[in-house]
Amino acid sequence: MRGIRPLVAGNWKMHGLGTSSAELRSLKDRLAEAPVPEADAIVCPPATLLARARDVLAGSAVALGAQDCHPLPSGPHTGDISAEMLADAGATAIIVGHSERRTDYGETDALVNAKAKAAFRAKLAAIICVGETELERRQGATLEVVRRQLQGSLPRGARARTTVIAYEPVWAIGTGLTPTPADVAEVHGFIRGELGQLLGQTEASLLRILYGGSVKPANASELLFVPDVDGALVGGASLKASDFYGILLAYAGRGAG
Ligand code: 13P
Repeated sequence: MRGIRPLVAGNWKMHGLGTSSAELRSLKDRLAEAPVPEADAIVCPPATLLARARDVLAGSAVALGAQDCHPLPSGPHTGDISAEMLADAGATAIIVGHSERRTDYGETDALVNAKAKAAFRAKLAAIICVGETELERRQGATLEVVRRQLQGSLPRGARARTTVIAYEPVWAIGTGLTPTPADVAEVHGFIRGELGQLLGQTEASLLRILYGGSVKPANASELLFVPDVDGALVGGASLKASDFYGILLAYAGRGAG
């Protein structure tokens, strides 16, 4: 056992209205009744729900995170939200560099790097996403793509305490497809090695590397107990308290991976 405490993170993406507080309340209640002390949990709803989610989750075992931020603390940037604002609304972490933002908005590694630094500046953790497209995998370029994204997106001063890497193969997101455990092990082991080069062995050995892409209660045990997998970044299945809790339950009684 490496002793890294696993993290199950929910990325709600552009889903959720005020009524979704009921799911958060249900998650909080389930964890109060039957805690899963072996893993940490964080839910990242849209910014519009942060303040309400903070109130609902107060006193619970579920932390609150946010999705994306502007690199600057404030300024004339209509529609954007800074890391400081997300912290002010109750977030403790920010997902940056998600493939949907890289694709929809052409976000570069340099921009993702600046956003991760913004999270650190606001005293928040950064959950930095990397992952190859289907074409890149077919071309055998997976490791090269992940290396390039890590080198560009990960600030050099990053520390394990405030940084999480999420490996999300783009072709596995929302498709029901998943890599084999052996493929996941290969990429996660590679990421750990790259982190050693970039941040030093000590930080690399402590930093959490999450797997993301079609994680469900039914496949959680298979995917999350792969070497160098320290948890999950969950999209669709994080919207329902029962599914998210079901994924967390994979850790119940099993200790750190
Ligand atoms: P799904 O779990 O819906 O495949 O989404 C994964 C994801 O993109 C999490 O950030």
